[in-house]
Amino acid sequence: MIRAFVVGHPIAHSRSPLIHGHWLAAHGIDGSYERIDVPPADIQAFLRGLSESGFAGGNVTLPHKEAAFALSDTLTPRAEAIGAVNTLVVGADGRLHGDNTDAPGFCAHLDRSLGADWPVRGEAVILGAGGAARAIVVGLAERGVSRIRVANRTKARAEAVAALAPGVAEPLAWADLPAAMARAGLLVNTTSLGMKGQLPLALDLAPLPAGAAVADIVYAPLETDLLAAARARGLAAVDGLGMLLHQAVPGFEAWFGVRPEVTPALRDVIVADL
Ligand code: ATR
Repeated sequence: MIRAFVVGHPIAHSRSPLIHGHWLAAHGIDGSYERIDVPPADIQAFLRGLSESGFAGGNVTLPHKEAAFALSDTLTPRAEAIGAVNTLVVGADGRLHGDNTDAPGFCAHLDRSLGADWPVRGEAVILGAGGAARAIVVGLAERGVSRIRVANRTKARAEAVAALAPGVAEPLAWADLPAAMARAGLLVNTTSLGMKGQLPLALDLAPLPAGAAVADIVYAPLETDLLAAARARGLAAVDGLGMLLHQAVPGFEAWFGVRPEVTPALRDVIVADL
């Protein structure tokens, strides 16, 4: 039996077991995907012990993505650029291979939702500068978006995220958002605003041009106020659930040897759990 895991702290709310469990059943694979709670004090020992553990690999979630980055023996260029690892593969020699699949996961979801030519829509405006923003900025730059503006409440964090894609990304003052939005083909909310139990994201979408798309990484609720406002304006609206589902694909393929599909049936499984 092939075994994989998701490690985090806390881990009870992770939806990764539902996603991988759905695919294991759909493909009739003799495998398991286990939820493991490891506190920060023990993560180093856990990751170091993986080569002997019998696991093919696993996902890493908060707060361990930086520890996984530091302890990987090899890194994909995008994991290296982002500074965080969410997917680990244990090699036959026991070495740990670290990747960050949030970036391609977000882009794959845009491909599905907007068509693969979305990078030519124009400049991208990113709201927020946390871990998700880091992955998305690196992903968009990798896909050839020519200019990315990063606006964040805390300016220093916007500067740090923009520095991940030199010559492409720049920090943006919140007050300058309307002018930047007027040139944008894509607006992405990576802040926690709009999430169940959080403040709403108060942003007037009027400056966006008619062909722009609006993406949210918040997926609970699935239809955020931001996406509802985008639809009301006739703009393309891209929900946050797709990134969660698509980021899981490369790990499943690496551990279990089958490339899984993000299907409406899988979406329904997760939506029922939101
Ligand atoms: P993640 O790693 O999931 O992206 P994070 O690192 O906690 O999460 O980042 C959350 C983002 O939401 C940050 O950009 C944060 O802004 P700060 O960097 O200024 O903290 C943003 N955010 C959270 N609450 C906010 C609020 N009330 N107003 C504006 N931005 C907020």
